[in-house]
Amino acid sequence: MEVLITETLAEEGVRWLRKAGLAVDIKVGLSSGELSSIISSYEAVIIRSATRITREIIDKASSLKVIGRAGVGVDNVDLEAATRRGIIVMNTPGGNAISAAEHTMAMILSLSRNIPQANNSFRSRKWERGRFVGTELYEKTLGIIGLGRVGSEVAKRVLAFGMKVVAYDPFISEEKLRGLKVKLTHLEDLLRCSDYISIHAPLKSETHHLIREQEFRMMKKGVRIINCARGGIIDEDALFRAIKEGRIQGAALDVYEREPPFDTALIELDSVIFTPHLGASTREAQTQVSIQIADQIIDALKGRGVRNAVNLPSFDLEMLEEISPWISLAEKMGSLLCQLLRSPIEKVNITYVGEMNQYNIGLITGSLLKGLLEPILEEKINHVNALAVAKERGIKLAEIKSDQIEDFANLITVELLTASGEVSLAGTLFSIKDPRIVRIDEYHVEVVPEGNIFICFNEDRPGAIAHITGILAEKGINIASMGVGRKKIGGKAITVLNLDTPVSSSLIEKIKASPIILEAKMVKI
Ligand code: NAD
Ligand code: MLT
Repeated sequence: MEVLITETLAEEGVRWLRKAGLAVDIKVGLSSGELSSIISSYEAVIIRSATRITREIIDKASSLKVIGRAGVGVDNVDLEAATRRGIIVMNTPGGNAISAAEHTMAMILSLSRNIPQANNSFRSRKWERGRFVGTELYEKTLGIIGLGRVGSEVAKRVLAFGMKVVAYDPFISEEKLRGLKVKLTHLEDLLRCSDYISIHAPLKSETHHLIREQEFRMMKKGVRIINCARGGIIDEDALFRAIKEGRIQGAALDVYEREPPFDTALIELDSVIFTPHLGASTREAQTQVSIQIADQIIDALKGRGVRNAVNLPSFDLEMLEEISPWISLAEKMGSLLCQLLRSPIEKVNITYVGEMNQYNIGLITGSLLKGLLEPILEEKINHVNALAVAKERGIKLAEIKSDQIEDFANLITVELLTASGEVSLAGTLFSIKDPRIVRIDEYHVEVVPEGNIFICFNEDRPGAIAHITGILAEKGINIASMGVGRKKIGGKAITVLNLDTPVSSSLIEKIKASPIILEAKMVKI
């Protein structure tokens, strides 16, 4: 298995990958054309923030299974394209949070006490004590935008300096503050009341230019801005104008809309201090993210579970062992349903009943969709892209978790709504791992979803089963197991046979020639 590393990664992770038997190529500084031309040879690629994994590169990545980001931000990866191609994208959350928070502290303090400017003045042999009078942090208000791993570490540190902290994070609740003396507020309130504003949100379409002209205009006069999260969250042109017009006292930037940002007009402003994306550049953080990503890549490539994927629910080996019979049953149910379909699917309703609801049912749903879609599509479908492919094809999905146990302690029920009606199946596990289909449409059955399965709807009359088995016997087709079901005596019944060899279409026609046979179909799982 080949792994490509495109940026400087601490040696520990590289050694770890090699020790696990993976072939590792380190090629730092590739152009995107060069990366495109070699990517097809690799099953995994490890990047930091400088490598852009675009749709064009993903289109060429025919063997790629995992994109590993040694760090947090995945804004340099076309997530949609990766997901669509079934490629897992994973990062290493938390591995560099302390370093990024400490860097933010260095920026806040440097900004308050003009340290970089004073250092420059000193180097030109000046002693300008009056020019660099700063401000205390004590009793000032810091507004934190994005109170995740880095944001909350920054909060803890500035609280120790006696600052007041307000935060804006639409995805965090008061109870998650875990005793932190932080007041959650709206963005507008934060902008109006803060003396310092520090950004710690991810760059996504919703946060691109979250802070633009109108937000700068809401801020307190003399505010200082710190961005150690991602360039692009602040509109740099609007920041330039706000500083130039004296509305903003200064800014400390570690990240930029384009990196490196040497053409930015901000460089001419003395009150802006810059670092070249150094937030995570400590020995400790780099070692940690390098080992973390190596470990995750090894597990993913060796089928031992997926951690910290941003486009797939995480699962570990222990959970995988428990859940895999359900994953396998769901895929078989999907495959069986696909073969029973008569017209395009409009909606899939999946109901999970029982203790299985404690599992990560997202993986089971992904499997079911894989089984359902794979036979009808050219492309490779897996757990990562199944949902995206279904969505793209206009198939609606409803997942329902229920604790209303009826005949089975655990049960998966799937209903496919199509233009020509509904097709449904229910499946469960016998003795923890033996898969069984226990209902086809409204007929109760007991079918092993494996190999050649002959499904026949017939009139519930003497002779129907003899007619089918007689024709099969004539052709030497052996029946491994048989199940029958009906709703009422003398009505429509179902006969399901597991066969050692498939029934040819001409033989199916022969079986169907009898008026007591209503429908017959051969499926293979
Ligand atoms: P995180 O996922 O733990 O936290 C991000 C927080 O932002 C979350 O709590 C989320 O709810 C919040 N958020 C999402 N959308 C938001 C929005 N529209 N408005 C406000 N908040 C929003 O991530 P983290 O590890 O704390 O990293 C934070 C940022 O710092 C990321 O952009 C990451 O890439 C960056 N980072 C930079 C460096 C560096 O070298 N400069 C190092 C580490 C992390
Ligand atoms: C991150 O998102 O983790 C940072 O940008 C750190 C990095 O990649 O150097």
